[in-house]
Amino acid sequence: MTSLGVCYYPEHWPEEDWADDARRMKRLGLDRVRIGEFAWSRMEPAPGQFDWAWLDRAIEVLHGEGLGIILCTPTATPPKWLVDRHPDILPCDKHGHPKKFGSRRHYCFSSGTYRRESARIVTALASRYGDHPAVIMWQTDNEYGHHGTHESFSPDAARAFRMWLEDRYKTISALNAAWGTAFWSQTYRSFDEIDPPNATVTEANPSHRLDYRRFSSDEICAYNQMQVDILRELSPGRPIAHNYIGDFTLFDHHDVSAALDYATWDSYPIGLLSEGDHSNADKARWLRNGHPDFAAFNHDVVRHCSPKWGVMEQQPGPVNWATHNCAPAQGMVRLWTWEAFAHGADFVSYFRWRQAPFGQEQTHAGLLMPDRRDTPVIAEIRQVKDEMERIGAQDRVRAPVAILHDYPSLWQHEIQPQGRAGSVLEMSRAIYSACRRLGLDVDVVPPRSDLEGYRLILLPSLTIMNEDLVRRLTESGATVLATSLTGSRTGEGHIPDGLAPGTFAELIPMRVDRFESIAPFIQLDVEVEGKVYDARLWRESVTSPADVRAHFPDGEPAWLQHKRCHYLACWPGDDLLDHVLRRLCEDARLSICDLGPGLRLRRAGNVQFAFNYGPEACDLRSICAPADEGAFLIGGAQIPCAGVSAWRLPLNRLEP
Ligand code: GAL
Repeated sequence: MTSLGVCYYPEHWPEEDWADDARRMKRLGLDRVRIGEFAWSRMEPAPGQFDWAWLDRAIEVLHGEGLGIILCTPTATPPKWLVDRHPDILPCDKHGHPKKFGSRRHYCFSSGTYRRESARIVTALASRYGDHPAVIMWQTDNEYGHHGTHESFSPDAARAFRMWLEDRYKTISALNAAWGTAFWSQTYRSFDEIDPPNATVTEANPSHRLDYRRFSSDEICAYNQMQVDILRELSPGRPIAHNYIGDFTLFDHHDVSAALDYATWDSYPIGLLSEGDHSNADKARWLRNGHPDFAAFNHDVVRHCSPKWGVMEQQPGPVNWATHNCAPAQGMVRLWTWEAFAHGADFVSYFRWRQAPFGQEQTHAGLLMPDRRDTPVIAEIRQVKDEMERIGAQDRVRAPVAILHDYPSLWQHEIQPQGRAGSVLEMSRAIYSACRRLGLDVDVVPPRSDLEGYRLILLPSLTIMNEDLVRRLTESGATVLATSLTGSRTGEGHIPDGLAPGTFAELIPMRVDRFESIAPFIQLDVEVEGKVYDARLWRESVTSPADVRAHFPDGEPAWLQHKRCHYLACWPGDDLLDHVLRRLCEDARLSICDLGPGLRLRRAGNVQFAFNYGPEACDLRSICAPADEGAFLIGGAQIPCAGVSAWRLPLNRLEP
């Protein structure tokens, strides 16, 4: 059963408001409430002195209305007394200076003291509420890695890094070889000599930095696992979740999620549009609706992290933290909610119940105004709830297309980008959007996942390649497309023997002799089937006996094909990408349609959804929908701006 929820902070409000809040939540159709993630100083006001009475009462009030509780461990905000007693728990910045108390996430994942203290509060919380009937789920901590805390350069982190390296390389000579320390005279004689790669005069060794990223990601995994182990023992059978940040790539979400039952994420489409790397034209175009593929892309990443998934925080109005904070267009909160369900989310929970008149997020909207009046978004949520009753839960569907999403490849390129414009994440999003514009459903999966059954597999500049992946790509029988830089590094971060694309050359015989980065204001022409398209940012010179499907003006290949495998030796502009994908879909026998910039489709079970992110109404009939208005479960063939339509697919349309 899909459901709706909200994030609530009983510790922010007078106790006499709680019962009315709970009643109003229930009346709105919410059935779960997330609480507790920042409440450590209220749970344990002084060392070892727990105050559970207020939390007992808050849980009873919510439970009394039949609301399920997502109870969070409060470790994102260690209390002042704990920091004063144990300053070694603080994370250190890249200059090695401790960050101070006064906001949140002020702890270092490698601090032994903090691991012990966290285990203590998690044990106390889970012992008290682990078998409470209201607790339907746990959330560990809150948004690991946020505010630049994915890495810390503390003495504890340095010690743990040395141990991690020793475990990985066993001998110092293996490490010297893997890092190429012959360069700039960096040879180490023992693991004890190694420091984290911060505060160096100029750039540190890229393999050292890549390993520090891997190590830091593993520290988050170990910290999360410690909490999960305690919760599993003291609250058996209750699912455990964590809430990730959208478009966040600084630790490996696949690895952290291996311990979880639910991967969830916090969806702020407008806040992150303002902060993201989109052009100003795109920021203006999607100002109040959010980019049409932002939430969908993150849904497709998170739903492949764990068996189940949800949206733990959904933006309900203007946020406070972006460079510019405008309000969503009317209808968008409903649309975002349906986009999540259409992707298979189990629940969507809005952030937050009531706007706080104090503290850091005073100007962040909630579902209620600070004076407790409803905001207009309440009507949208009520509408979603009614519609949910009509549609019901849908089966998960495997998409026909997969994009491979690999955190170490993202890190490798970020560490040694050879030019400031363009990232692997941007390339992934560009390819994802191009697929969505053609009406394709996409799975965004880790390279280690099962690739059987996909008809089209896309490798957006997957820099780190391995033999096993090449074998599974071959065996999948899918049409494969890789873009520039694919296979350009080994796992250690070196250029492979025989040059890029390394082992990927088993799928398409080729060698990259040169990679260039090009300033964003310069366009590269690529000629395909007699027509000239734009490419930009990246260009490679490739030697290959494969078929040349497109070339640069000097005759060098821009698009190569060998059997079912294709390679683009550039950063394709949107039109070129559209053209290439259309041809690949023909080869892979995938049916497509033309949705243009703002219309999007997504199938859930046997229900087809359509979403209009664009400024104008459109008529779905000419594009994809049934002519019969009676077939619609939500909306109709005319879909307004911020509109959602859904209809049941005839049985013969169920195969992609
Ligand atoms: C999230 C965070 C919440 C709140 C929210 C505001 O990143 O998890 O605690 O700060 O942003 O938009």
